Formats: sequence, C-alpha cells, structure tokens
Amino acid sequence: MENKKFYVTTPIYYASGNLHLGHCYSTVYADSLARVKRMQGYDTFFLTGSDEHGQKIERNAAKAGKTPKEFVDNIVNGIKDLWKLMDISYDKFIRTTDSDHKLVVQKIFKTLFDNGDIYKSSYEGLYCVPCESFFTEAQLKEGKCPDCGRDVELTKEESYFFKASKYQKQLEKLFIDNPNFLVPESRKNEMFNSFIKGGVEDVCVTRTSFKWGVPVDFDPAHVVYVWIDALSNYITALGYGKSDDTLFKKFWPTEVQIIGREITRFHVIIWPMLLMALGIPMPKQVHSHGWLTEKGAKMGKSTGNGFNPYILVNRYGLDAVRYYLLKEGPMLEDASYTSERFLNTINADLTNDLGNLVSRTLAMVQKSFDGVIPAPVKQEDIDNELIGFANNALSGVLNAISDNSNTQKALEVIFDLVRKANKYIDETTPWSLAKDESKKERLQTVLYNLCEVIRIVSVLLQGFLTVSPAIIFKKLGITDAALTTFDSVKTFGAKISGLKTNKGNNLFNRLIIEDEMAFLNSEIEQKKEKEEIKVEEKEQKHISYEDFTKVELKNAKVLEAERIEGSDKLIKILVDLGYEQRTIVSGLAKTYTAESLIGKTVIVVTNLAPRKMKGVESNGMLLAVGEDDNNLSLVTLDKDFKVGSEVS
Ligand code: ME8
Ligand code: MG
Repeated sequence: MENKKFYVTTPIYYASGNLHLGHCYSTVYADSLARVKRMQGYDTFFLTGSDEHGQKIERNAAKAGKTPKEFVDNIVNGIKDLWKLMDISYDKFIRTTDSDHKLVVQKIFKTLFDNGDIYKSSYEGLYCVPCESFFTEAQLKEGKCPDCGRDVELTKEESYFFKASKYQKQLEKLFIDNPNFLVPESRKNEMFNSFIKGGVEDVCVTRTSFKWGVPVDFDPAHVVYVWIDALSNYITALGYGKSDDTLFKKFWPTEVQIIGREITRFHVIIWPMLLMALGIPMPKQVHSHGWLTEKGAKMGKSTGNGFNPYILVNRYGLDAVRYYLLKEGPMLEDASYTSERFLNTINADLTNDLGNLVSRTLAMVQKSFDGVIPAPVKQEDIDNELIGFANNALSGVLNAISDNSNTQKALEVIFDLVRKANKYIDETTPWSLAKDESKKERLQTVLYNLCEVIRIVSVLLQGFLTVSPAIIFKKLGITDAALTTFDSVKTFGAKISGLKTNKGNNLFNRLIIEDEMAFLNSEIEQKKEKEEIKVEEKEQKHISYEDFTKVELKNAKVLEAERIEGSDKLIKILVDLGYEQRTIVSGLAKTYTAESLIGKTVIVVTNLAPRKMKGVESNGMLLAVGEDDNNLSLVTLDKDFKVGSEVS
C-alpha cells in the first residue's frame, strides 16, 4: 500500500465542568472520519484532549475548594470516561497541563518573541471570563458578551501581543488560494468578509491577572493566554519542538480539523497566522460544524440545558446515540435535539429499516435452510438492480466522506441500500417462494442476496457505529475478518453461502414513544432537582449542632427489596428497625441488584418527611456514598448491633 496518512483533530475540551451531548458531536464526528480512513488503509492519527488553563478554571477550582490541578484531573477523568462511553478511538489524548506541552509552548513563545512576532505593550479591553475573550465596545451585544450574553469586565494590564497584522495579506491569500480551507461555505464567507478583509488586529497573548497557565519563562509575571497554549496542542501532541518529532514529520499537516462554530475565528485566523510565523504548513481543511441546540438555544453546560449522554446511551445503546448525532447532527448548520425526534429516528431507521431487514431475512434463512446461508443460483433483473445498488454503496460512502466529511450523506447512502433491500423483500416475496418446492432455487438466490446486502451494510456501518456491525457479523456467522473489510464490498458476491447464521435477539427494540418521552422528561426533571439541591447545599455550608441533632439516624436490616417498574434507578426496600418495619424507596438500582440488598445492615434517616416516588411512598432514606448513581456504596456497619440503634 502506498503511504497514505490521515491526521484528524477535535478541539481540546475545556476542563471546567461536565460535558453534555452537544460536546459529543465534535468527537463522534471526528471519530467517524478516523474509522473510515483506517478502514481505507490510511495511516491515521486521531487527536483529542483537554484545555486546562485559564482564569475560568482557576476560579471554578477555587469555588470547588480544590487546587487547579486537582480540579482539572478530576474533570479530565470525566472527559475520558465519556469518550470511553462514546467509543472514541483517539490515538492520543493531549492535556495542556502535560509538562512536555508546556515546555514547547514556552519555546514557541520565545521563538515568536525573538523573531519580533510578539511584542510587549498594554491592553485595555472588555473581557468575558467564561469565554476567555476580549471584545471591543462595538462587538458587544447590548453591552454584554456577544458569544454568551453575560457581563464583561473592563480590564487593563501589561500584555504581550502577537503581530497578527503582519500576516494579514498571507491569510487573505490562504483563503483565496484554498477555497476549501474552511467549510462550510457560509462560515467561510462570514469569516472572510467580517473578520479578515477589513484587517486583523494584533492579538493579546498573555495575562498577568491570573496564575493558572503556562508562564512566559523570560517574564514570569505573564502567563501565556489561552489561545497560544491551546491552539499549539495540535502540533505539540505530535512532538513538534521536541527531540523526537517523528510523528510531527509524518502526520502534519492535518487533513481535517473538526471544530464547533464558536471557535472558528481562532482556528482560521490566529492559528494559521501562528503557523505562518513559525514557518509551519497550513492545515488542509478546517471543518466548522454547527451547534446542537435545545429549544432554540445552544446546548451548553453554562446555560445548563445540556442533555446527559449517559442517560441516552444507557437506555438506548451507543449506536442509537452515535447514529442520531451523525445523521441529524449539526454538520453545517445548527440542528436541534428533541427527545421526540431522537426516539422517532431510532424507531424509523434502526428498528424498522435496519432491524427488520436483518430479523426478517434471518428468520427466513432459519425456516427454509436451517439457518445456513444458501448459494445463489441465477440472478434476474430485479436482483441485478439490487446488486448494482450494493456495488455503488462503498464509493458512495467514500465520496461523501472525501467531499467535506459528509457523514450525513454517507449514512444516507447506507440506509438507502437498507431500504432498497426491504423493498426487494416486498417485491420478491420470499415467504411465498418458500411455500412452493419448485421455487426453491429462486428462494436460495433471493435469500443469499439479502444476506450479502446485510453484510455489505454492516461492513460500511463500521465507520459510524461501533456496536451493531459486530453483532450483525455474528448473526450472519461471519468469523473471517476478510469478510468485514472495505475491500470485501467492492463487488457484490462474497462467499458467504454455507455460513451458519444465528438469529439471536433484535438489534433494536421498538420504542413506545410516549413511555420513553415520560422517562426522558422525568430524568431531566430529576437532574434539575439535583442541581437545585447542589446549589442549596453550596449556599448553606455550615449547620448548627442543634440542626444536626434533629436528624435521626438508625441502623436497620433489609428484609425485602424489589425494583420499581418504569424506573432504572429506584428500588423499593422494606427495612426492619426492630420497633417497626417500613418502606423506603432508594435510587440504588444502577449499582445494586435488588436481591443483593436483602440481609444487609444499612443506616437509615428515620425522621425524613414521607415522599412519593414513582407512586410509592418512601419513609426515610438510606445512606450511601458515591459520585454518581452508577457507582455507589451503601453505608453499613462493621459490627452487628441490635437494629434500631441510634447513630450518633
Ligand atoms: O471551545 N453543539 O472547548 P469546549 C455542538 N477549549 N458542539 C458543541 C456544543 C453544542 N451544543 N457545545 C460545545 C473549547 N460544542 C476550547 C477549544 S481548541 C484549541 C480549544 C463543541 O469544551 C464546541 O464547538 O467549550 C467545541 O468544538 C467542543 O465542543 C469543545 O468545546
Ligand atoms: Mg465552548
């Protein structure tokens, strides 16, 4: 194979708080491109990471009572867990707190300073802390930050500046000579007309008002302000500026940089100019996707409306979430998330179209051929039409990806084939062929064709979904890896006859929309409640001793426990307090099975006002420790005491 390489990046994520479904878009999208390229045989490097410096993080850490490093370590673990959940196949996770990254940032800064691309002056401007951006008066919207709508602070300080004006002409030329440097077209025009053509101002690149950042080594009162630190991750991750820069030599420049639209300006103005100043080649393309919106607003942690990906993945499976993001996601323009749309998409595409194709076909193979894929006998016109369609699918997918990374189009190609195959079933009516012994050869051909189309679909889906393809191969009895490659679907007609299929469970279950809407809405409500409780807790740091003595805590034994229907969290528990037995509803089901609780000694808050949950009255509360519902530990005793003893 000739030496083809592919370097794709996501932005590095702010380690300032938990991520939400909207954040998953950049990584799932980039992940999908990386998977397709790997299957095409490209030597692929997929980079993601975390952006860990700045005033916002310094402040959030202080609020949480942690050092900045403790704070970001914890958040970064959460980010990595989320990427595990989403099956993100990154090759490297860079942290801007990595010591080798910091060293190279200092080196870059020094080089730029020595070359006269950075100079010292002072800055007076309006600064938005959450966005880490300065704005001019004219850029504000009704006096507030134009990006997030919050208050800005007037800030004046001594700063270093990057001489962006020097690279103005070169940047214009980059845009003119490379019409695909930035996609989509609409964003390119906006950037060029509003921010580039009129002249680019020098950029403030250090701050003295906070400490949590990479210090300028020759002037340590200054820390490198977010963008030089953050943007250079794309090259420091490859070892740029280090003694071993093999990866940099091999992979730079990026084929595609995936970013969300609010950071376009930095990625297509400051970033190319920094590279110009360093004499480094330009990225080949920046793909600036839109936002996942909810009720018309950008889904975001700071606006508090982000949907929790864990809830969706745990209940509907990862493929459902990835499929939805890649199909309906904000590839070019914003796209709204609604639970209803999400659920309907799963039902229509995954359960009906794909799921039914697989289950109908395998049921017929089971019934007529004892589950063994038959050999085709003679292809007729109607078969050849399906075969022609299947033969074009791979190139359709690859063209969509090479044409501005269009995952939506790629999935459409695959699902058009799925729908075509379903139509083929309706037209060839294999169930009636099965009733007529003289049509056996015809039935063989039809069912072989369907199995082969399913295989092709599954091979192609591997670029996008990470769970179902393996399941489908298993159902088809495919164990030979050669039957799962892109090469194997260039021409229809792989040798799969004779394979023993296994129908197994449904790929996707039909969802009852109203029930699921009720479930998702109640999850959202619970999340809101939790957040309100958290805020209340924060506001009242101390309680008096007297307040504490009001809480009645006792040890008790669990007599009975059962899951509450319609909730994946709640367990109804009957406890023995010695002087009485009572029912308590507890949110333990994501960690404990109901049976495993029986017989355990627990600590109960006995004087809590009764509360109804899912229609069951709860009289008290069990104490448990844990960060989230999936990982709790019940508070229990290390000695056996008479139940009903007071905890003090
Ligand atoms: O911007 N819909 O990090 P970040 C779609 N650290 N994408 C969304 C989204 C939404 N509702 N909300 C966030 C940063 N994103 C900087 C980048 S790069 C040198 C520094 C996307 O954690 C957002 O557009 O705020 C971006 O692509 C990614 O999540 C990380 O955002
Ligand atoms: Mg952001």
